[in-house]
Amino acid sequence: MSFSSEQPKKRIFSGIQPTGNLHIGNYLGAIKNWISLQQDSETIYSIVDLHALTLDSNLETLNESVYEVTAAIIASGIDPQKSIIFNQSSVKEHSELCWVFNCVAKMGWLNRMTQFKEKAGKKRENASVGLYNYPILMAADILLYRATHVPVGDDQKQHLELTRDIATSFNHIFKNNLKNDFFTLPEPIISGPAKRIMSLKDGTKKMSKSELSDFSRINLTDNRDNIVKKIKKAKTDALPIPELETELTSRFEAQNLINIYAGLEDKSPQMVLDEYSGKGFADFKKDLTEILIEKITPISNNMLKLLKDKHEIERILTDGSLKARTIAEKVMCDIKKIIGFI
Ligand code: TRP
Repeated sequence: MSFSSEQPKKRIFSGIQPTGNLHIGNYLGAIKNWISLQQDSETIYSIVDLHALTLDSNLETLNESVYEVTAAIIASGIDPQKSIIFNQSSVKEHSELCWVFNCVAKMGWLNRMTQFKEKAGKKRENASVGLYNYPILMAADILLYRATHVPVGDDQKQHLELTRDIATSFNHIFKNNLKNDFFTLPEPIISGPAKRIMSLKDGTKKMSKSELSDFSRINLTDNRDNIVKKIKKAKTDALPIPELETELTSRFEAQNLINIYAGLEDKSPQMVLDEYSGKGFADFKKDLTEILIEKITPISNNMLKLLKDKHEIERILTDGSLKARTIAEKVMCDIKKIIGFI
């Protein structure tokens, strides 16, 4: 069987949900990593609006959030000339491949997904089927481009494992129709110390846009005053900054602030401790505030400028979708041939 799509040597795919109110957790955990990857790899980044449909709470602001998240990633440094930036719903093959994978994946595999259990909570019977199915759509996103590497946060590692299981299973089911495995297994790229940024009010909870108090996070649109106030109020403990990282393990809030500093400055947490050990958090917080202002203000200014011209954002997404579709159509066409659809 001859294929029209080619397995690239290295191709990076990642997605971000359009849920509005992006914060430094999103920036340090995902976007910042995406920026460095676009320098020397083929990079495809998707605003995953189909995934956002899985939770009712995203619906009201969906349209606005797609503009916002697109503006945020461009303002942060994702360059539409270097990366393909597109919204997932504009490439219909994502949904099409999702159905195929629905029939490859097993119920038992999905029943193990911890994120579904967390998001559905106690009201599991009331969760949408889409929320349950979410990881399959994610597998379709990645494999539709035959991506080799996927930058993801810690919390998405299990979904990437599932993607690899689906790829392996697909290759196996259709082995008689194939000379070689069709899908290579995508590898995760887990980012540095800032891979999991926690709430400023509770160091055991992930920083989240859905947390009620705005004091729990630094938003990418926060101004100087907000940042000053939020860091001042951020929870810490009475002990001084220690010498070693191991001394931070049960000091969750302290560890989180050190990680944020390290992430922003491209340093290891230990390098930050070397600089500050013995000092109290008051001094440290002053410096952290300055760094945050220095990094966030240009992004937020850029973002607001971009948001004034929605046509330009639409133009970028349309252009990205065209490029994404060129790849996706070929891969989907091959997959249909492999399955045996006429
Ligand atoms: N589930 C991811 C998250 O919430 C977003 C996502 C959707 C994604 N599709 C993807 C990430 C494909 C990487 C690859 O962070």
